[in-house]
Amino acid sequence: MKMARRIENLPPYLFVEIINKINAKKAKGEAVISLAIGDPDMPTPPHIIERLCQAAQDPANHRYPEAASLPELRQAVAEWYKKRFDVSLDADSEVLPLIGAKEGIAHIAFCLIDPGDIALVPEPGYPVYPVSTMLAGGTPYCMPLTKENNFLPDLDIIPEDIANKAKFMWLNYPNNPTGAVADLDFFHKVVKFAQQHNLAVCHDAPYTEVAFDGYRPVSFLQADGAREVGVEFHSLSKSYNMTGWRIGMVVGNAEIVGALNTLKSNLDSGIPQAIQYAAIEALTGLQDCIQQHNAIYQRRRDLVVDMLRSIGLEAEPPKASLYVWAKVPEGYTSVEFANELLEQVGVVVTPGIGFGKRGEGYVRLSLTISDAGLVKGLSRLAGWRDTKNKFRAKR
Ligand SMILES: Cc1ncc(COP(=O)(O)O)c(C=O)c1O
Repeated sequence: MKMARRIENLPPYLFVEIINKINAKKAKGEAVISLAIGDPDMPTPPHIIERLCQAAQDPANHRYPEAASLPELRQAVAEWYKKRFDVSLDADSEVLPLIGAKEGIAHIAFCLIDPGDIALVPEPGYPVYPVSTMLAGGTPYCMPLTKENNFLPDLDIIPEDIANKAKFMWLNYPNNPTGAVADLDFFHKVVKFAQQHNLAVCHDAPYTEVAFDGYRPVSFLQADGAREVGVEFHSLSKSYNMTGWRIGMVVGNAEIVGALNTLKSNLDSGIPQAIQYAAIEALTGLQDCIQQHNAIYQRRRDLVVDMLRSIGLEAEPPKASLYVWAKVPEGYTSVEFANELLEQVGVVVTPGIGFGKRGEGYVRLSLTISDAGLVKGLSRLAGWRDTKNKFRAKR
């Protein structure tokens, strides 16, 4: 059987490969500790699950949902944006719930890209941005995120002809994988750049609620003029430990939101309604869980950064996101170092190259592992360090 070229040219999804490696080790009876995937280990808070169970009992929720979702959910999203960011949204034209942010992120390229068009994508970055661009027949142009520029793209080095040809730009802050954050000054520059070059902006913001030391990430839509040029993707996955329920949203520019709604109504049949009611509960109910989770992640972040530094890896404690981005020791590529940790001590980290070639030289560690797992993982890393030191001392 011959598959379409677009499938044959598609690289295997980074995390599927990692999960395959973990499963192969487990099948051999080896205990593996994974710091590789950003999937909250803590359960969805009980009040949200209670609402989900209640809604699941109601036969009205057993039928096809409306494509654009429940008006009450769109309203809850608009109210949450108002409360959290002081951004006013029209719930009918500027809000669209999604089957997880990833679904909308993958599909938006089909609204903005014609074959031959360019999308500006950050590198290192979430792999879905370049892949969806290519699936839509476009070409991703990589904007390097470097430590020297605080992992923000340098808009001034994007060649004029590329900027003029580009249809849209992807941004993501708080950032996966680097943990970097952006402020409103940067977003103001982005709006100006978008206006100058007549391009759209898609800001992917699923980590705005995962932040530490009192830091409060901003929304792209808080920047003057942002709504005229772009949209923001958000998600309940990381804020409320709801990765398994698959629910997110896109908000902002009505033309882009409307285009995605048109595309989606032809492709999918909406979000299961019981999950929509759970999302309404999450957005409008008690918010204490966010601070409670962040306190746990912050403690884990400090433990991870201390350990990495003690084994000779350069790492900064991130202000937000679920990730620590660490430089690999000299003499290793990111894949070699990740393989060494997996083979020697059964610890899984994500090689930076998986986020694009400018991720080379780094590994990403996720904070979404149980405290007990983390303690075990860190002691294994300490064991790796001690063996290395002994080996060095003998030489
Ligand atoms: C940057 C980024 N965007 C989007 C997503 C997907 O979020 P969702 O679970 O809502 O699909 C992730 C998940 O890891 C992510 O890291």
